[in-house]
Amino acid sequence: MQKDQIRKVLRFISIYGISRTLAKVIGRLRLNVSVSRRKHGHPVGVIGCGQFAYSTICYFLNKSGIMFDSCFDIDGGQANSLAHRYKFKHVADSLATMLEQRDLHTVYIASNHYTHTDYAIKVLKRNLNTYIEKPISVDEEQLSRLLYAVAHSQGRVFAGYNRPFSGAIRDFKHLATGKGKINSEPPFTISCYISGHRIAEDHWYRDPKEGTRICGNLGHWIDLSIHLLNWRGPYPDILTIMVSYSNEKEPDDNIAVTIVSDKHDLISIVLSSRSEPFEGINETINIQLGNVIAKIDDFRRMAVWIDDILVKRRYWPKDVGHKEAVMQPFGSEQRDWHEVELSTLLMLSIKDMVQHRETTRRFSIKEAAGTILTMRNGSHCNASLTRLGS
Ligand SMILES: NC(=O)c1ccc[n+]([C@@H]2O[C@H](COP(=O)([O-])OP(=O)(O)OC[C@H]3O[C@@H](n4cnc5c(N)ncnc54)[C@H](O)[C@@H]3O)[C@@H](O)[C@H]2O)c1
Repeated sequence: MQKDQIRKVLRFISIYGISRTLAKVIGRLRLNVSVSRRKHGHPVGVIGCGQFAYSTICYFLNKSGIMFDSCFDIDGGQANSLAHRYKFKHVADSLATMLEQRDLHTVYIASNHYTHTDYAIKVLKRNLNTYIEKPISVDEEQLSRLLYAVAHSQGRVFAGYNRPFSGAIRDFKHLATGKGKINSEPPFTISCYISGHRIAEDHWYRDPKEGTRICGNLGHWIDLSIHLLNWRGPYPDILTIMVSYSNEKEPDDNIAVTIVSDKHDLISIVLSSRSEPFEGINETINIQLGNVIAKIDDFRRMAVWIDDILVKRRYWPKDVGHKEAVMQPFGSEQRDWHEVELSTLLMLSIKDMVQHRETTRRFSIKEAAGTILTMRNGSHCNASLTRLGS
C-alpha cells in the first residue's frame, strides 16, 4: 500500500470507525475475506453488487443479522465476491431466475441508475418488497411505470434517500419542535454545500441515459429539502427554480440550484467537484427555521441555536442515515413514500432544465400531486415536463 493510501485508511478510520473502513477497503480491493454471523429470517436478494452494495447495504444488513439469500450482477466477478464476503446462498444469473427460484422477503436494487425502475417493477409484480437505491427513476416515463407498479403490488417499496434518517436531521427536527417554540410554519432557509466526488468522463454516471449528476447526486438534497418542507406542515405550492452553471459544457457539475417557494422558503444547493475530496464527499448544511438555527458539519457534528440555547452534537461514526435507510424494510421507521415521489418529480424537472441549459423554471407542487395520481392509476399519458415546469 502506498503512503497516501495508508493515510486515507487512517483518516477513514477516524471518520467511520475500523469495521466500516475495513468494509470499504475490502470492497474496493475485493479481498477474499468473508464475515461470519448468525442470520435469522427475512432472506434478501441484491441486484448490483458494486461498492455501495458491498460496503453499505450488505454491511448494515449483516450487522443486523439479516439473511443473505441471492445476488446478481452483470459482472459475475462482482456478484461472486459479494456472495463470498457475506455468505450468500446463491449467485443468480438474472433477476428473473432469482425471482423464480428463490423465496425472498426483500430485493435491494443497487445497480446503475437507468436499470433501477425496471428491476423494481419486476420485483413488485411478484408482490415482494423492493428497496431502490437512489434515484428511483431517471425520467418521467420510468417514474410513471414505477408508480403504477407500486400502486398495484402487495409488495412494499423503499427508497435509498438516506439524509432524512441521519442523526443530525432527526435531532434538528426534535430540537426545533421540542425546545424551539417555532410559530406556525415560518419559512425555511436551507443551504447545502457539497464537495462531491470528481467523476471521470468515462464513468458510467456520465452516460446520458443514467440521468446526469442531478439524478446521481443532487437528488439527495432535493429530497432532503422536500422532506423538511413536508415535516414543517402543508407544502408550499409554487417553487421557482433557478440554476447557475459555472461551465455550460459540463452543466451538471459545479452548479448552484436555488429554489424559492410561495411560502418564502429559500433553498440553495451547490455541488462543487473541482478536485477529489480526500475524505470522500463532504457536506455542510445550514438551516434556519424561525428562531432555530442549525449548522451541520458533514453529518459528523451539529450546532443548534434556539435563541440563547446552544446545543452541540457529535456523530461518530459519521452518520448520514445509511443504516436506518437500509433497515427500512425491517425497522420501525419508513419514509413517507409520497415525499419520494414528489422529490423525484422535482429532481426530474431540474434534470430537464440542466439538459436544456435552462436557468429558471416554475414548478407547481399541486400540479405535481395531480401528475403523481395519474401515474399511480396508469392514465398518465406523457404529461410533459414542460407542463409541470412552465
Ligand atoms: N445512498 C447513498 O449515499 C449512495 C452512495 C453511493 C452510491 N449509491 C447508489 O448505489 C448504486 C450503486 O452505486 P455504486 O457506487 O455501488 O456503483 P458501482 O459502480 O460500484 O456498482 C454498480 C454495480 O452495478 C452493476 N451493474 C451495472 N449494470 C447492471 C445491470 N444492468 N444489472 C445488474 N447489475 C449491473 C455493475 O457491474 C456494478 O457492480 C447507485 O444507484 C448509486 O447511486 C448510493
